[in-house]
Amino acid sequence: MRAVVMVSGGGTNLQAILDAVRDGKITNTEICGVISNRTDAYALERAKKAGIPAVCVSRKAYATRAEFETALLAAVDSLKPDLIVLAGFLVIIPAEMIRRYERRIINIHPSLIPSFCGDGFYGLHVHEQVLARGVKVTGATVHYVDEGTDTGPILLQKAVAVEPNDTPEVLQRRVMEQAEWIILPQVIDAIANGRVSKDSNGNWFVTM
Ligand code: GRF
Repeated sequence: MRAVVMVSGGGTNLQAILDAVRDGKITNTEICGVISNRTDAYALERAKKAGIPAVCVSRKAYATRAEFETALLAAVDSLKPDLIVLAGFLVIIPAEMIRRYERRIINIHPSLIPSFCGDGFYGLHVHEQVLARGVKVTGATVHYVDEGTDTGPILLQKAVAVEPNDTPEVLQRRVMEQAEWIILPQVIDAIANGRVSKDSNGNWFVTM
């Protein structure tokens, strides 16, 4: 399975994927490219160190959003992916891309959807709201991407405890270490090996 990873930031989820492929925890999968919308994304460095083709498609380089989206989709198409993994990618996915790659785009979100998700809930903002609400359990979710924001069918989730005196940064790191970096590789391996199915309720499940 050819997988493209789309990034905007530090790339710790990308690194977890690359390490899992190296360690045989993800099989039948080639990470055939990394696409960032930010030239300064450290994720691009991680890709280069791993010898993976890495490109940047920056909104600033295009006169209109439509031209940017066309360029982004062309970059994805050129890699001929079977799966597109959004790993901290902070760009709204063009509707045409959703259509073209229906049920072949997954996203990692740093909360237990449907809590703390949707417009404005990304990065540290998620964990700030978790602490503001005072929930005792948070976590991460991997879901298929549809036209909405964090609204696609849920594939896998993992819970993480909120501790007293947590800061958003400490909590974000715990959610990454104890959830994101575990479930994203698990879902990719399940998809690559045909272990994803719908149950009688029409809900999606991955089997380990
Ligand atoms: C982090 O906020 C993470 O929780 C979310 O995307 C952001 C960037 O992560 N999934 P990464 O280090 O670039 O993978």
